[in-house]
Amino acid sequence: MKPSLSLALDADERACAGHPRTVVSLLLRAAYNAAMQPAGSTVEYKIRDLPRLETPRLVLRALSLGDVDDIFAYASDSEVTRYTIFERHLSSKTTIEWLRSVVDMYRDGHPGPWGMELRSSRRLIGACGFRNWETQHGRAEMGYTVTRAYWNQGYATEAVRVLIDFGFEHMNLNRIEARAVPANIGSTRVMEKAGMKFEGVLRQSEFFKGAYQDLVIYSILRHDPRR
Ligand SMILES: CC(C)(COP(=O)(O)OP(=O)(O)OC[C@H]1O[C@@H](n2cnc3c(N)ncnc32)[C@H](O)[C@@H]1OP(=O)(O)O)[C@@H](O)C(=O)NCCC(=O)NCCS
Repeated sequence: MKPSLSLALDADERACAGHPRTVVSLLLRAAYNAAMQPAGSTVEYKIRDLPRLETPRLVLRALSLGDVDDIFAYASDSEVTRYTIFERHLSSKTTIEWLRSVVDMYRDGHPGPWGMELRSSRRLIGACGFRNWETQHGRAEMGYTVTRAYWNQGYATEAVRVLIDFGFEHMNLNRIEARAVPANIGSTRVMEKAGMKFEGVLRQSEFFKGAYQDLVIYSILRHDPRR
């Protein structure tokens, strides 16, 4: 049986040291350095009770079935889904199914997705999180989506910065990646503004929207400067 360790986090309203730009409300109860594990053993990290993360204008919080209307509003917008790996939601049934899967993901200890809520109006304007979390390699990939009416106001960049801080400080990551189709300039700008470095083009690396898609890949390492 492989050993398993829970990295349990809860919202204890403590400021996260080192990055005054973000206030990350977290209490780190247990930390573990995977590099110290004997060869061949696997450590499983889990995030229990997805913590609430705060930025100057946003609160990143767990999603629930009550968010169906706000999520459907952007997930059904063909402009929003033009370059995404997920297909446009044709009815709110799809959104409800997705939200149910999200609740299961929280239960299983996945890091996100977080809903992006505006502090000013408490409106949910998007979602962001990690996927492909490879604990053995200290690596994960970020994804993010914002409702069209709120594009180009810096919200995705603000959320990505706090995710990067969270990934390095509380998920024991060494490398955070993000990918986008080359035509998705808004997404690549977010990566650049958050201090991620362009590494190249992964040719025909994923199949979605009916075709093998080239993806640009950006990354940031634990010791790279953060913006
Ligand atoms: C990608 C996305 C999340 C960006 O969100 P956002 O909140 O608008 O991002 P920001 O405002 O932080 O940054 C966007 C940047 O891209 C720039 N930009 C957007 N479209 C552009 C274009 N066609 N050409 C040049 N720059 C562009 C904006 O000007 C801004 O840069 P600036 O601050 O230097 O002016 C949003 O467009 C979105 O949800 N798109 C649909 C879903 C998606 O594609 N997700 C990513 C999948 S990889």
